[in-house]
Amino acid sequence: MTQLPKKDPLPLRALPDANPPAREDQSDHMGAFPRVRMRRNRRAAWVRGMVAENRVAAEDLIWPIFVHDGSGRTPVQSMPGVDRLGLDCLVDAVGQGAELGLSAVAIFPYTEDALKTSDCREAVNPDNLVCRAVRQIKQAFPDVGVICDVALDPYNADGHDGLVREGRIVNDESLDLLCRQALVQAQAGCDVVAPSDMMDGRVGAVRQTLDGAGLTDVGIIAYAAKYASCFYGPFREAVGSGSSLKGDKKTYQMDPANSDEALREVALDLQEGADMVMIKPGMPYLDVIRRVKDTFAVPTAAYQVSGEYAMLKAAAANGWLDNDKAVMESLLSFKRAGADAVLTYLAPEVASLLQRR
Ligand code: PBG
Repeated sequence: MTQLPKKDPLPLRALPDANPPAREDQSDHMGAFPRVRMRRNRRAAWVRGMVAENRVAAEDLIWPIFVHDGSGRTPVQSMPGVDRLGLDCLVDAVGQGAELGLSAVAIFPYTEDALKTSDCREAVNPDNLVCRAVRQIKQAFPDVGVICDVALDPYNADGHDGLVREGRIVNDESLDLLCRQALVQAQAGCDVVAPSDMMDGRVGAVRQTLDGAGLTDVGIIAYAAKYASCFYGPFREAVGSGSSLKGDKKTYQMDPANSDEALREVALDLQEGADMVMIKPGMPYLDVIRRVKDTFAVPTAAYQVSGEYAMLKAAAANGWLDNDKAVMESLLSFKRAGADAVLTYLAPEVASLLQRR
């Protein structure tokens, strides 16, 4: 280090002209105007585009798809424009999504009541609907990312994400089943498993199971901060778990009042080996997305859930909101909050809007 000369250093503020006069101070808005005019960068489309800080891109979007074990499409009443797809139309639909530039799909099964049991055995059936769907997609489109939800609710007679014993959702026993569920999904060929069950320790347990089976490249997107939200209502209709759900999910999903707790959840899931973390729902929890991104700087996904989709579509159907503008603005809010990826039922619609621009 070079020594500075030691003779009478003047305090900085005493140096003549060291500080700009107050009127040039950026924080002094009265002084800044009329020299500074924010509207100059907004006056034409070319400059607005040039200074835009965030963009929505098809490759950031993950498309959640509902499948059913029949043929053709069946509409989800509370999600206008969303259908459950039979395996006969699944590959075509995924192909169209890929054509539009979508990176990945997430598969959710509609399960017949007959397959729902209290031991959730269908969850670990290597030939269940999800596994068959995954094999079909990966065979036709090996480059499309396929994500599977790890949770027991589609297969549980009680509609819960974990095993229920004497009215309680038991943690450690559920882990064993969740690991076996993740394993059959990974063996079917999915790229990423997404534990959405909110049991403690599930990310680490699933990581260990996958690694033990040599599936070290299968990733984990952890539903790290998943809230006990009413915005999942339409999803439960879509997968047929709503009517069977006994009670609520408040003993494992997070309290909407909390956000410090989300940071602890994310920290733990990262420690346990999550490759990416997710915040869910999306728009009501943008503050959590921002805190997580600022705190951990890891790949962060947001889930714009079924109820958010339903709200937008209901308002648009009534002519109360402009559908295309509301859809794009909602997606932009996730990018602004710091999300890298967004799971959204709007994915194909947004991707085609982006192509038409
Ligand atoms: C299952 C699961 C749910 C969602 C995704 N995975 C429902 C729930 O936790 O009750 C909701 C997705 C949506 O509402 O779009 N654990």
